[in-house]
Amino acid sequence: MTQTFDEPAASPALLLLGTRTDPMSERGVDCPGDLPAASDPGLVERARAAKEALGDRVFILGHHYQRDEVIQFADVTGDSFKLARDAANRPGAEFIVFCGVHFMAESADILTSDNQAVILPDMAAGCSMADMAGINQVEDAWAQLEEAGVASRTVPVTYMNSTAAIKAFCGRHEGAVCTSSNAEVALRWAFDTVGGVAGDGKVLFMPDQHLGRNTAVLGLGLGLDDCIVWDPRKPLGGNTPEAIAAARMILWKGHCSVHGRFRKDNVDTLREQVPGINIIVHPECTHEVVTSADFVGSTEYIIAAIDAAEPGTAWGIGTELNLVRRLADAHPDKQVHFLEDTVCFCSTMNRIDLPHLVWVLESLVAGTVPNRIVVDAVTQEQARIALDRMLALPAQQPEKD
Ligand code: 13P
Ligand code: SF4
Repeated sequence: MTQTFDEPAASPALLLLGTRTDPMSERGVDCPGDLPAASDPGLVERARAAKEALGDRVFILGHHYQRDEVIQFADVTGDSFKLARDAANRPGAEFIVFCGVHFMAESADILTSDNQAVILPDMAAGCSMADMAGINQVEDAWAQLEEAGVASRTVPVTYMNSTAAIKAFCGRHEGAVCTSSNAEVALRWAFDTVGGVAGDGKVLFMPDQHLGRNTAVLGLGLGLDDCIVWDPRKPLGGNTPEAIAAARMILWKGHCSVHGRFRKDNVDTLREQVPGINIIVHPECTHEVVTSADFVGSTEYIIAAIDAAEPGTAWGIGTELNLVRRLADAHPDKQVHFLEDTVCFCSTMNRIDLPHLVWVLESLVAGTVPNRIVVDAVTQEQARIALDRMLALPAQQPEKD
């Protein structure tokens, strides 16, 4: 007897990710087109054929946290800093297919010309960290800092992992964007504009409190007590006026739900299990995890460190699992361990899969442009100021242990 399977009705609790609209999120709506079935054995061939038919008209960017099935079709791979540069350096490509998350595609749209279309294969590929800072919350926080008399001595710096509206806010208020590859030089630049690290100026760092704290303390030599956390749900961010007056770093209360999962006891356990292991983590991890690791740096830094490592060495890596798995596969002569004890991908990065990529590429071949990311002209202009400030910064020296 043939068995049939009826798709259950979607639970309202599950609608937030990828279906209809979600006003609380930077991610979008589900795909309007007919996605090929994930089980279709011809998907790889279909993607290859569509990409070949498009030729130089299409340029595919792949963030390091993307699935293998997608990365194999990327013309370039990179962390968010490298991909922003790569997108800006491809003026000839009519279509930029961004295999990453929404805020990255927005940045690519800002950095490319208006006649280039930036496409995100699944509009539901957002970022929970970016969602932790809404533009209204940031405007409200700034108004409170103005009221407290400190805004004129405060420079807003936003991590790339934020909406275009927040990048535009930084552009309007003499601030900049940074990524995990250049957060230290960006913070130094920001402090220099208000009297230097040794002065009394402040930085409002959004939305990742961990990257802000780790960079300020380990990179700039500020103290933990120079940092306060701004909780947008509380008056004055949950701080006293005195604490705000004394603070040097005002850290937005946001975090990455992937890197936030690593704990110090993961580090301790791996050290016990594998004597001599090197622990290397991304600066989105908590300060406790970063200070118990041997090395800290962006995804590009982590890749370079494992590439350069001696055969036979052991590594515990605290970053997204797709990347760690690829590093393990690429280095069979080294021991590569995932730092966490449960297995967790970035669920939104993982939204981009081969069916979505095939759908996008075949739509382009057929003459329609699906899932175009368009940032409005005013936001583009202001966000570009903050992005250009970042791109003009001197290169950051590789992290130290
Ligand atoms: P980088 O790409 O800057 O290393 O950031 C990691 C990340 O979480 C991207 O979403
Ligand atoms: Fe956002 Fe973290 Fe996923 Fe990056 S890894 S997209 S910061 S949730």
